[in-house]
Amino acid sequence: MLRPLVQTFRRFLQPSASWLDRQAAKQNCTLQSLMDIDERNRWFPPEFRQRFGGFHPAGGSRRYLPSFPFDRVRSDMIALLLREIVVNHVPGSFAELGVHHGWSARLIHHYCPERRFYLLDTFAGFTAHDLKHETVAVGFNAGPAFADTTVELVRANIAPVGTTLEFVPGWFPASATAAMRDDRFAFVHLDADLEAPITAGLEFFWPRLSPGGMVLVHDYNAWPGARQAVDHFRQHHPVRAVPMPDKAGSIVLLK
Ligand SMILES: C[S@@+](CC[C@H](N)C(=O)[O-])C[C@H]1O[C@@H](n2cnc3c(N)ncnc32)[C@H](O)[C@@H]1O
Repeated sequence: MLRPLVQTFRRFLQPSASWLDRQAAKQNCTLQSLMDIDERNRWFPPEFRQRFGGFHPAGGSRRYLPSFPFDRVRSDMIALLLREIVVNHVPGSFAELGVHHGWSARLIHHYCPERRFYLLDTFAGFTAHDLKHETVAVGFNAGPAFADTTVELVRANIAPVGTTLEFVPGWFPASATAAMRDDRFAFVHLDADLEAPITAGLEFFWPRLSPGGMVLVHDYNAWPGARQAVDHFRQHHPVRAVPMPDKAGSIVLLK
């Protein structure tokens, strides 16, 4: 009795589609709709959620914090990939190469706080060494970027931070620790934009990935470096891959 009333009230409170469109246009992107399993969607199926869990495993309550206001698909995609890792009990740690301010890391850590999670970044932006290896200049990758961050800032953005979180500052792959070399991984997020670090990430993590594990590479359908790194890797490794329709066109590599 109360639930339909609450849902109607929520819908009434939602911003109008035209207002959302205007806001999206200001950010130079189009409006993305909510998935049906999002309870703010008018087609939200309560029975389905009750039985199958929606963004969460059935009967479970994980903390899902959407991180990208203008790329809802990206947030939902990451949550649902993590859900697969959880329900299939894929063993191993998590890692992210390319943390910047920590928004994707925040989503991943709060959804799976029980997993060891390595956060790899220079925390000083792109390096001249990696930029030198970019073979296609597109403007974004022409100069140093993402230097406006620190470990402390990321820690504050992710807070509360569990003991499973491990910051690995420095230039990857040299920054990889002995513990990382000996570890196994269930989920790896490569969001380093450039060809050299993404190639290094694939070479480092793929052999350490558990069966059923995933490597999510952001920007596959947006940045030439990401595309070239993945395509080149796949020429030498028979990897099943699924392209994703988030804003920057991620791709998921499945083991
Ligand atoms: C697009 S940002 C990451 C965005 C982040 N995932 C988010 O949620 O907003 C790319 C990051 O990759 C990092 N990066 C690029 N190459 C790297 C390398 N070789 N080693 C470590 N970090 C690197 C940059 O410093 C930058 O912070």
